[in-house]
Amino acid sequence: MVELTNDLDKILVTEEEIQNRISELGQEINECYTNLANDEIVAVIAIINGAIIFTADLIRHLRLNMELDCIRVSSYRDATSPIQEPEIIDRIRLNLQDRHILLIDDILDTGSTLTKVVDLLNTTRPRTIRTAVLLDKSSRRTVPFEADFIGFNIPDEFVVGYGLDFAEHYRHLPCIGVLKPELQNPPTWT
Ligand code: IMP
Ligand code: MG
Repeated sequence: MVELTNDLDKILVTEEEIQNRISELGQEINECYTNLANDEIVAVIAIINGAIIFTADLIRHLRLNMELDCIRVSSYRDATSPIQEPEIIDRIRLNLQDRHILLIDDILDTGSTLTKVVDLLNTTRPRTIRTAVLLDKSSRRTVPFEADFIGFNIPDEFVVGYGLDFAEHYRHLPCIGVLKPELQNPPTWT
Protein backbone atom coordinates (compact mmCIF):
# COMPACT_ATOMS: atom_id res chain seq x y z
CA MET A 1 0.00 0.00 0.00
CA VAL A 2 1.25 3.50 -0.81
CA GLU A 3 0.07 6.55 1.10
CA LEU A 4 0.36 9.36 -1.42
CA THR A 5 -0.86 12.03 0.99
CA ASN A 6 2.65 11.69 2.53
CA ASP A 7 3.88 13.45 -0.64
CA LEU A 8 1.89 16.56 0.30
CA ASP A 9 3.26 19.47 2.30
CA LYS A 10 -0.26 20.35 3.37
CA ILE A 11 -3.88 19.74 2.42
CA LEU A 12 -5.49 22.90 1.03
CA VAL A 13 -9.01 21.60 0.44
CA THR A 14 -10.39 18.47 2.07
CA GLU A 15 -12.56 15.88 0.36
CA GLU A 16 -15.58 17.04 2.36
CA GLU A 17 -15.00 20.72 1.50
CA ILE A 18 -14.71 19.82 -2.20
CA GLN A 19 -17.93 17.80 -2.20
CA ASN A 20 -19.90 20.46 -0.29
CA ARG A 21 -18.74 23.20 -2.64
CA ILE A 22 -19.52 21.13 -5.73
CA SER A 23 -23.06 20.64 -4.50
CA GLU A 24 -23.40 24.43 -4.08
CA LEU A 25 -21.90 25.04 -7.53
CA GLY A 26 -24.41 22.62 -9.01
CA GLN A 27 -27.25 24.67 -7.53
CA GLU A 28 -25.69 27.93 -8.83
CA ILE A 29 -25.43 26.43 -12.30
CA ASN A 30 -28.99 25.05 -12.22
CA GLU A 31 -30.27 28.50 -11.23
CA CYS A 32 -28.26 30.20 -13.95
CA TYR A 33 -29.90 28.04 -16.63
CA THR A 34 -33.32 27.94 -15.00
CA ASN A 35 -35.10 29.79 -17.80
CA LEU A 36 -34.01 27.49 -20.63
CA ALA A 37 -36.79 26.14 -22.84
CA ASN A 38 -37.17 22.36 -23.07
CA ASP A 39 -35.42 22.21 -26.41
CA GLU A 40 -32.42 24.23 -25.24
CA ILE A 41 -29.47 22.00 -24.50
CA VAL A 42 -26.39 22.65 -22.39
CA ALA A 43 -23.24 21.11 -23.89
CA VAL A 44 -20.86 20.39 -21.05
CA ILE A 45 -17.28 20.33 -22.32
CA ALA A 46 -14.59 19.01 -19.97
CA ILE A 47 -10.96 19.91 -20.55
CA ILE A 48 -9.20 16.59 -19.99
CA ASN A 49 -7.40 15.09 -18.27
CA GLY A 50 -7.54 17.59 -15.39
CA ALA A 51 -11.30 18.24 -15.33
CA ILE A 52 -12.54 14.65 -15.45
CA ILE A 53 -13.04 14.14 -11.73
CA PHE A 54 -14.58 17.56 -11.10
CA THR A 55 -16.85 17.15 -14.13
CA ALA A 56 -17.98 13.68 -13.08
CA ASP A 57 -19.04 14.92 -9.65
CA LEU A 58 -20.46 18.27 -10.78
CA ILE A 59 -22.73 17.02 -13.56
CA ARG A 60 -24.51 14.68 -11.16
CA HIS A 61 -25.88 17.81 -9.47
CA LEU A 62 -27.15 19.32 -12.71
CA ARG A 63 -30.86 19.21 -13.51
CA LEU A 64 -30.52 20.22 -17.13
CA ASN A 65 -31.00 18.80 -20.56
CA MET A 66 -27.33 18.24 -21.28
CA GLU A 67 -24.78 16.59 -23.52
CA LEU A 68 -21.17 15.80 -22.57
CA ASP A 69 -17.97 15.92 -24.56
CA CYS A 70 -14.28 16.44 -23.85
CA ILE A 71 -11.46 18.45 -25.35
CA ARG A 72 -7.88 17.45 -24.70
CA VAL A 73 -5.47 20.29 -24.15
CA SER A 74 -1.86 19.99 -23.13
CA SER A 75 0.39 22.70 -21.81
CA TYR A 76 2.54 20.92 -19.25
CA ARG A 77 5.38 18.53 -19.97
CA ASP A 78 6.19 16.86 -16.64
CA ALA A 79 6.93 20.23 -15.10
CA THR A 80 5.11 22.51 -12.73
CA SER A 81 5.22 25.55 -15.00
CA PRO A 82 3.65 25.80 -18.45
CA ILE A 83 6.55 25.47 -20.82
CA GLN A 84 4.62 25.93 -24.03
CA GLU A 85 1.45 27.42 -25.45
CA PRO A 86 -1.60 25.25 -24.73
CA GLU A 87 -2.10 22.86 -27.59
CA ILE A 88 -5.46 21.33 -28.55
CA ILE A 89 -4.64 17.70 -29.21
CA ASP A 90 -8.13 16.21 -29.42
CA ARG A 91 -11.14 18.14 -30.65
CA ILE A 92 -14.82 18.09 -29.74
CA ARG A 93 -17.15 15.82 -31.69
CA LEU A 94 -20.48 17.38 -30.66
CA ASN A 95 -22.20 19.87 -32.92
CA LEU A 96 -22.21 22.99 -30.76
CA GLN A 97 -24.26 25.26 -32.97
CA ASP A 98 -27.03 26.88 -30.86
CA ARG A 99 -25.92 25.02 -27.75
CA HIS A 100 -25.31 26.66 -24.39
CA ILE A 101 -21.73 25.62 -23.68
CA LEU A 102 -20.56 25.03 -20.12
CA LEU A 103 -16.79 24.63 -20.31
CA ILE A 104 -15.17 22.98 -17.30
CA ASP A 105 -11.54 22.98 -16.18
CA ASP A 106 -9.80 21.93 -12.99
CA ILE A 107 -7.87 25.15 -12.43
CA LEU A 108 -7.66 28.62 -13.88
CA ASP A 109 -4.02 29.65 -13.63
CA THR A 110 -2.40 31.95 -16.20
CA GLY A 111 -5.67 31.98 -18.20
CA SER A 112 -4.12 30.93 -21.48
CA THR A 113 -5.82 27.52 -21.69
CA LEU A 114 -9.37 28.80 -21.16
CA THR A 115 -8.79 31.81 -23.41
CA LYS A 116 -7.63 29.51 -26.20
CA VAL A 117 -10.48 27.02 -25.79
CA VAL A 118 -13.16 29.74 -25.52
CA ASP A 119 -11.82 31.36 -28.71
CA LEU A 120 -12.05 28.00 -30.47
CA LEU A 121 -15.57 27.28 -29.15
CA ASN A 122 -16.77 30.70 -30.27
CA THR A 123 -16.12 29.65 -33.86
CA THR A 124 -18.74 26.86 -33.51
CA ARG A 125 -21.60 29.41 -33.17
CA PRO A 126 -22.94 28.42 -29.74
CA ARG A 127 -25.73 30.41 -28.09
CA THR A 128 -23.75 31.11 -24.94
CA ILE A 129 -20.46 30.03 -23.37
CA ARG A 130 -19.94 29.88 -19.61
CA THR A 131 -16.99 28.49 -17.70
CA ALA A 132 -16.67 26.61 -14.42
CA VAL A 133 -13.40 25.92 -12.62
CA LEU A 134 -12.83 24.15 -9.35
CA LEU A 135 -9.79 26.27 -8.46
CA ASP A 136 -8.74 29.82 -9.31
CA LYS A 137 -5.13 30.94 -8.82
CA SER A 138 -5.93 34.53 -9.77
CA SER A 139 -2.54 35.92 -8.71
CA ARG A 140 -0.92 33.99 -11.59
CA ARG A 141 -3.04 35.43 -14.39
CA THR A 142 -1.14 36.62 -17.47
CA VAL A 143 -4.19 36.71 -19.78
CA PRO A 144 -7.28 38.48 -18.38
CA PHE A 145 -9.95 35.82 -17.79
CA GLU A 146 -12.73 35.38 -15.26
CA ALA A 147 -14.68 32.16 -14.84
CA ASP A 148 -18.45 32.28 -14.27
CA PHE A 149 -18.43 29.58 -11.59
CA ILE A 150 -15.48 29.13 -9.20
CA GLY A 151 -15.09 26.50 -6.50
CA PHE A 152 -12.20 27.88 -4.48
CA ASN A 153 -9.68 30.70 -4.76
CA ILE A 154 -6.25 29.39 -3.86
CA PRO A 155 -2.82 30.96 -3.35
CA ASP A 156 0.06 30.60 -5.80
CA GLU A 157 1.20 27.09 -4.89
CA PHE A 158 1.51 23.98 -7.03
CA VAL A 159 -1.36 21.69 -6.10
CA VAL A 160 -2.27 18.10 -6.92
CA GLY A 161 -5.22 15.81 -6.33
CA TYR A 162 -8.86 15.67 -7.37
CA GLY A 163 -7.90 15.67 -11.06
CA LEU A 164 -4.81 17.85 -10.80
CA ASP A 165 -1.56 16.10 -11.57
CA PHE A 166 2.15 16.31 -11.47
CA ALA A 167 3.41 14.38 -14.52
CA GLU A 168 0.07 12.44 -14.58
CA HIS A 169 0.44 11.33 -10.94
CA TYR A 170 -1.85 12.16 -7.98
CA ARG A 171 -5.03 12.82 -10.01
CA HIS A 172 -6.96 10.28 -7.93
CA LEU A 173 -6.35 11.85 -4.51
CA PRO A 174 -9.76 12.79 -3.08
CA CYS A 175 -8.39 16.03 -1.58
CA ILE A 176 -6.30 18.89 -2.98
CA GLY A 177 -2.87 19.52 -1.51
CA VAL A 178 0.43 21.26 -2.08
CA LEU A 179 3.06 18.90 -3.45
CA LYS A 180 6.27 18.81 -1.39
CA PRO A 181 8.84 21.05 -3.13
CA GLU A 182 11.43 18.26 -3.28
CA LEU A 183 8.98 16.19 -5.36
CA GLN A 184 8.52 18.92 -7.93
CA ASN A 185 10.76 18.42 -10.92
CA PRO A 186 12.22 20.82 -11.86
CA PRO A 187 12.06 22.33 -8.36
CA THR A 188 12.39 25.86 -9.70
CA TRP A 189 8.79 26.35 -10.92
CA THR A 190 7.56 29.90 -10.43
P1 IMP B 1 -3.46 28.05 -17.51
O1 IMP B 1 -3.51 27.87 -18.99
O2 IMP B 1 -2.14 28.62 -17.06
O3 IMP B 1 -4.62 28.80 -16.91
O4 IMP B 1 -3.38 26.62 -16.88
C1 IMP B 1 -4.40 25.78 -16.80
C2 IMP B 1 -3.87 24.38 -16.73
O5 IMP B 1 -2.60 24.31 -16.07
C3 IMP B 1 -4.80 23.56 -15.89
O6 IMP B 1 -5.76 22.94 -16.72
C4 IMP B 1 -3.88 22.56 -15.24
O7 IMP B 1 -3.76 21.43 -16.08
C5 IMP B 1 -2.54 23.22 -15.19
N1 IMP B 1 -2.21 23.72 -13.83
C6 IMP B 1 -2.13 25.00 -13.44
N2 IMP B 1 -1.79 25.11 -12.14
C7 IMP B 1 -1.66 23.83 -11.69
C8 IMP B 1 -1.34 23.26 -10.41
O8 IMP B 1 -1.11 23.93 -9.39
N3 IMP B 1 -1.30 21.90 -10.35
C9 IMP B 1 -1.55 21.11 -11.42
N4 IMP B 1 -1.87 21.60 -12.63
C10 IMP B 1 -1.91 22.95 -12.77
MG1 MG C 1 -5.34 20.65 -17.07
